[in-house]
Amino acid sequence: MRVIKTIKEMQSIAKGHKKEGLTIGFVPTMGFLHEGHLTLVREAKKICNVVVVSIFVNPLQFGPKEDFAKYPRDFERDSAMLQKEGVEYIFHPDGEEMYGKGYQTYVEVTEVTKNLCGASRPGHFKGVTTVVSKLFNAVMPDYAFFGEKDYQQLATIKRMVADLNMDINVIGVPIVREADGLAMSSRNTYLSEEERKSALCLYRAINLAKELINNGERSAEKILSEVVNLISNTALTRIDYVKLCDPETLDYIETGLLKGKTLLALAVFVGNTRLIDNAILEV
Ligand code: PAJ
Repeated sequence: MRVIKTIKEMQSIAKGHKKEGLTIGFVPTMGFLHEGHLTLVREAKKICNVVVVSIFVNPLQFGPKEDFAKYPRDFERDSAMLQKEGVEYIFHPDGEEMYGKGYQTYVEVTEVTKNLCGASRPGHFKGVTTVVSKLFNAVMPDYAFFGEKDYQQLATIKRMVADLNMDINVIGVPIVREADGLAMSSRNTYLSEEERKSALCLYRAINLAKELINNGERSAEKILSEVVNLISNTALTRIDYVKLCDPETLDYIETGLLKGKTLLALAVFVGNTRLIDNAILEV
């Protein structure tokens, strides 16, 4: 496994492998890896000849009051984990390499980014699509892997790739959870013991919504209010959003009866840590 720090070297390696007829699989990450990230890596290993994982904590996607400075970082641990998975390259540029002097170009997806995290975190998705475009241009992948944990991010990347005619297959990978149901996240390390218990309310809320549907409930308002109640009655929590959405457009569904597939998307502060989770509800 090799660690590549410059865009030029990454591109020259990618071109070399393409010439050899090998396919490149790419897993972009911000590091502090867990089984969720490793599941994306394993999917990439299954269908690609060469796998590149990027580790870059992208300043552009954090708001001024967010956790960029304290975001957990442990490159030694991450690289040992990736070595074990048989990854060929880690792309690990620094901030200067990615956004050098005079930097002024951004990629923005305008519609599917409006609601949910796009509404709560202004500028976040512009930061994501800009960095992912730059990473794509460095790694030149045939396949790129993203987790459904960040459902809106996956939808946004798919839209960007289609709209900008990027010749890349975007593969979505299901959410990986802890044994008790908490969705894995690098940010879970922020949680105290008490908060870790409260954090389970996101998964419990998803299960409650599924159970209501299984018992015949179809009213969007009723399902939303039950989910909101469950979370608000959990200690140490503050709801950022609880939404039902069209799984394609991410438009909100606030009233009426659910039919077909509906996305339930949650963002909840547990203490100071903002956690997200989601599930597709199927009638
Ligand atoms: P990061 O939060 O490190 O996540 C990297 C990838 O791992 C994302 O595609 C995310 O959806 C996926 N992932 C995280 N937790 C997961 C889980 N529990 N189950 C399945 N997949 C999971 O997302 C980012 O980084 C950044 O925004 C990035 C795309 C790298 C751009 O900076």
